[in-house]
Amino acid sequence: MLNKLIKNFKLDFFSTLKKILFYPFMYFFDKKRQMKKKILHLNDVEDRFTKIYQSNYWNNDESVSGFGSTVAATENLRSQLTVILEKFNIETILDAPCGDFNWMNLFLKENKLKNYIGVDLVSEMIKKNNENFKNDTINFIKLDIIKDPLPNSDLLICRDCLIHFSYKDIHKFLQNFKNSSIKYLLTTNFYFDKNTDYITKDIITGDHRITDLNSEPINFPKSIFSIKDYDVDNIGTAYMDLFEKSQIDSIKIPKIL
Ligand SMILES: C[S@@+](CC[C@H](N)C(=O)[O-])C[C@H]1O[C@@H](n2cnc3c(N)ncnc32)[C@H](O)[C@@H]1O
Repeated sequence: MLNKLIKNFKLDFFSTLKKILFYPFMYFFDKKRQMKKKILHLNDVEDRFTKIYQSNYWNNDESVSGFGSTVAATENLRSQLTVILEKFNIETILDAPCGDFNWMNLFLKENKLKNYIGVDLVSEMIKKNNENFKNDTINFIKLDIIKDPLPNSDLLICRDCLIHFSYKDIHKFLQNFKNSSIKYLLTTNFYFDKNTDYITKDIITGDHRITDLNSEPINFPKSIFSIKDYDVDNIGTAYMDLFEKSQIDSIKIPKIL
């Protein structure tokens, strides 16, 4: 009898302890899931990214654009971007999207350009960037890279953005780029072993997935220059791949757009 009581007490004690220890984590993840549901239920894509910005949904203390946009995460990217400027004679950059300009601010202090334009869909962020960073050669414009005409430049940097777009919106952005006169595109890419862990997946714009641009249904050609960007735990490595305009022009865009 006594043994049974002790056994029951131990069982209750450990299950209660487990609940106390795990509850904060469960609460955090639930809150995150609830917020994601709320964001993706918004009809307008601009509202989704505005909510992401306002709630610091990507949950980073240094940059509202997420951990990939911190100074530490961009160390190799910044040094290799300098190589690209020299090798490909880049004097003007369209940073599309620019996010909160966290790492690019540092890059531009060390690398002078003739002109830099940062664009983003979130008006509040563009306003803040202009208040804090605008000068003779640096300027920020609110613009939708999927459908608005892209200002001319030598290089368009599209970092950590297509991973948030549905395939249809990636295609629309590529069509928009084709319509521009920009010479080069530098964009985030992941490489997967097709026999193992890569599952091609569509999302609704505003969500997130890892994107291997060389695979179906995007089918990018081989890049002319590749920069190792940051590692994503248990998933892989992000690269920034460079393409000439003519290479992007050769990509087939589905007619249904
Ligand atoms: C993860 S952040 C990356 C920002 C920046 N490229 C960086 O490396 O820090 C993605 C950004 O894309 C912006 N964005 C999403 N859709 C967009 C669109 N259609 N046009 C312009 N900006 C967009 C979001 O508002 C967000 O600031």
